[in-house]
Amino acid sequence: MKSGDKYIPLKKLNEIKELALKNPEKFWGEQARCLDWNKTWDKVLEWKPPYAKWFVNGRLNACYNCVDRHILTSKRNKAAIIWVAENGDTKIMTYYELYRKVNKFANVLQNLGVETGDRVAIYMPMIPEAAIAMLACARIGAIHTVVFSGFSADALAERINDAQAKVLITSDLLYRRGKKINLKNIVDKALLNCPTINHTVYVKRNSDLKLVEGRDYSWEELMKGAKNYIDPIPVDSNHPLFILYTSGTTGKPKGVVHSTGGYMVYTTKTMEWTWGVNDMDVFWCTADIGWITGHSYVVYAPLALGTTIVMYEGAIDYPNPGRIWEIIENHGVTILYTAPTAIRMLMTYGEEWVKNHDLSTLRILGSVGEPINPRAWKWYYEVVGNRRCPICDCYWQTETGGHIIYPPIGIQNIPLKPGSATFPGIGIDADIVDESGNSLPANKKGLLIIKNPWPGMLIGLWKNNKRYEEAYWKRVPNCYCPSDYAIKDEDGYFWILGRADEVLNVAGHRIGTAELEHVLVSHHAVAEAAVIGKPDDIKGEVPVAFVILNKNFHDKNKKELKEELIKYVKETMGPIATPHMILFVNKLPKTRSGKIMRRVLKKLIMSEELGDLSTIEDNTSIEEVKKELMDFEYR
Ligand code: WTA
Repeated sequence: MKSGDKYIPLKKLNEIKELALKNPEKFWGEQARCLDWNKTWDKVLEWKPPYAKWFVNGRLNACYNCVDRHILTSKRNKAAIIWVAENGDTKIMTYYELYRKVNKFANVLQNLGVETGDRVAIYMPMIPEAAIAMLACARIGAIHTVVFSGFSADALAERINDAQAKVLITSDLLYRRGKKINLKNIVDKALLNCPTINHTVYVKRNSDLKLVEGRDYSWEELMKGAKNYIDPIPVDSNHPLFILYTSGTTGKPKGVVHSTGGYMVYTTKTMEWTWGVNDMDVFWCTADIGWITGHSYVVYAPLALGTTIVMYEGAIDYPNPGRIWEIIENHGVTILYTAPTAIRMLMTYGEEWVKNHDLSTLRILGSVGEPINPRAWKWYYEVVGNRRCPICDCYWQTETGGHIIYPPIGIQNIPLKPGSATFPGIGIDADIVDESGNSLPANKKGLLIIKNPWPGMLIGLWKNNKRYEEAYWKRVPNCYCPSDYAIKDEDGYFWILGRADEVLNVAGHRIGTAELEHVLVSHHAVAEAAVIGKPDDIKGEVPVAFVILNKNFHDKNKKELKEELIKYVKETMGPIATPHMILFVNKLPKTRSGKIMRRVLKKLIMSEELGDLSTIEDNTSIEEVKKELMDFEYR
């Protein structure tokens, strides 16, 4: 099956889908040929629920597939990365240059004592060195764990410690909205609590960088003495390529582990099926490398296919709201992949900013991170795409590795419905079920499940099998449950309705309410906290915290306390988790067994009917919250 501009008939697509489910071994065995393998697998799939091993005993190197193999073809001198800085500076790196830098940096890592299987933490701005660092790890079989550069020192330290990373690769600063953010200070603070880190490598940018003797090194200096070539190390197909932390329903983030073979095959194939990329394409996925979208569709899949990517450091509406459109025009971007929250924000600036640019190179518009509301869909389609470009709404998760429900526009031009991610993708057997696992009829809301393993599926949670089994495979026995509500309409289209657990989706980012509550109660003024999500026009959802103060804080100035708590959350977790509102209450609605009734808090904040209150322990807690809501002054 070839991707490209030519579509296959719908009947053929359905046949492929059928074959992929009926005979997954045959199907995925053929698809895996999209990569170069050092040793072919003995068996395509070994499925011991809930653990899948894909391409058993196969050996390959992800970096070789993303870089080396293109050097042997006419892609050698093609742009791999078009990098744009917030101040407009642009650098174009060819595949050959990328190859040289990745080799050298892989040797730098070796010289720092990094070996196959060791963990390397990456905490970096959106600069080409971030992709180089990831690929260099893959080249020597080291497992990277990228931490989003907006996370705080504590969040960084927590992730480094869980993964027990040996080396940290970072930068002294990053640029955002015209400001310089000093990463070095954050890193120095984190490293006070990271005993496993032996060395830190800094990409030096503009600041007066003070290195700690024997621990800190400058990227540039180390690269000078590094070898031009080192052999890529073939690893087992099920060797972890990376760990990426994501929020869960408990206070601790989950270390999602992805394999090398299965993950690379699945992301590469979904990249082809979704967009049908070819050598004329300039692909721009606006996600940060700190998230899964940045791993799969900024780095691994596009580079495995030898695509030209755009990487942009900074805010897409800075220094003016036309920045995103200017980059598309300047570099002839053909596929844009962004999030509904970004589209809604861009909408607020008006059409003029879009219309002032020539966007005729665009051919597909992608959306990811949350359901795209029909108004944003229409604007994206009509104003940005000029009614020419299909909107490709891709539903997936950190854990799924690649797209799960999406229109395979690269091979089939299926009719779209605004707000629906269309159908389960090739090789995905999905359904909507009730809490007992019974399949639901059309238009009935239930839990989305996946009934079969697929190559991009996580291989586990880092050193925590029990949590892996409980988080994904217990809610609906023997099925993968992503914990999202959905419906399937009468035409079989899937509509994702939002999270079915205590996780918020704030501007496309997963924030665990438990994680945020945990941070709040770690503050000395707080006795108890409950966090819920409140709908927001731009961000989709924002966190709202109900806080019970410790006794000796009752008389303190509430405004100052709120500010202090907000500052504390920003420092402890990172700015993305900042509560939109903090309400001080004396009681929280709880069940008789002592569980906080977040459902009731949510209804209260939205002024909706409260529903069944038969299990509530103390009715006065409701009056209490209502009163506080009435008195609340918006920040
Ligand atoms: C949500 C991001 C509706 C969903 C790739 C999922 C979506 C969570 C969509 C994963 C979409 C992602 N339509 N909801 N197209 N894409 N989601 O792990 O709740 O950061 O479970 O991965 O985002 O977020 P994550």
